[in-house]
Amino acid sequence: MRICVLNGPNLNLLGQREPEIYGRATLADIERLVRDSARELSVELEWFQTNHEGALVEAIQQLEGRADGALLNAAALTHTSLAVRDALLAVQVPFVELHLSNIFAREPARHHSLVADLAVGIVAGFGPQSYVLALQALAGRLRAG
Ligand code: DQA
Repeated sequence: MRICVLNGPNLNLLGQREPEIYGRATLADIERLVRDSARELSVELEWFQTNHEGALVEAIQQLEGRADGALLNAAALTHTSLAVRDALLAVQVPFVELHLSNIFAREPARHHSLVADLAVGIVAGFGPQSYVLALQALAGRLRAG
């Protein structure tokens, strides 16, 4: 089973960016954590981060035929991007929406997600562990058929 992890804008700055919200782990630290978990689950993992909306759209378009599912932390694009939503509608690859922070406990502008209703499920608020929980849940769902 192959799962692609897609990370949106500013997540490359984790570790230094608003540590009181996002913690001290870098994106590379999180990638290591998720790769360890993927190995235990016998999941083949692809990891991607971009600061550009179009690049994220293209990565989503390329999921079909390349991945059985995806984990998506679209970061701020979660709340703004119809283009990301349309790409997800176009490919119909099962995905989990995830966030490090609990977006519902933050500013009102973050309470709305343009992709949540398309997701298999949502994980938010557990820091780096959100990625691991999302991976476990998606792998379980895909294995269940
Ligand atoms: C985030 C939450 C978003 O609202 C924010 O724009 C991010 C990160 C999270 O992982 O908590 O960049 O997706």
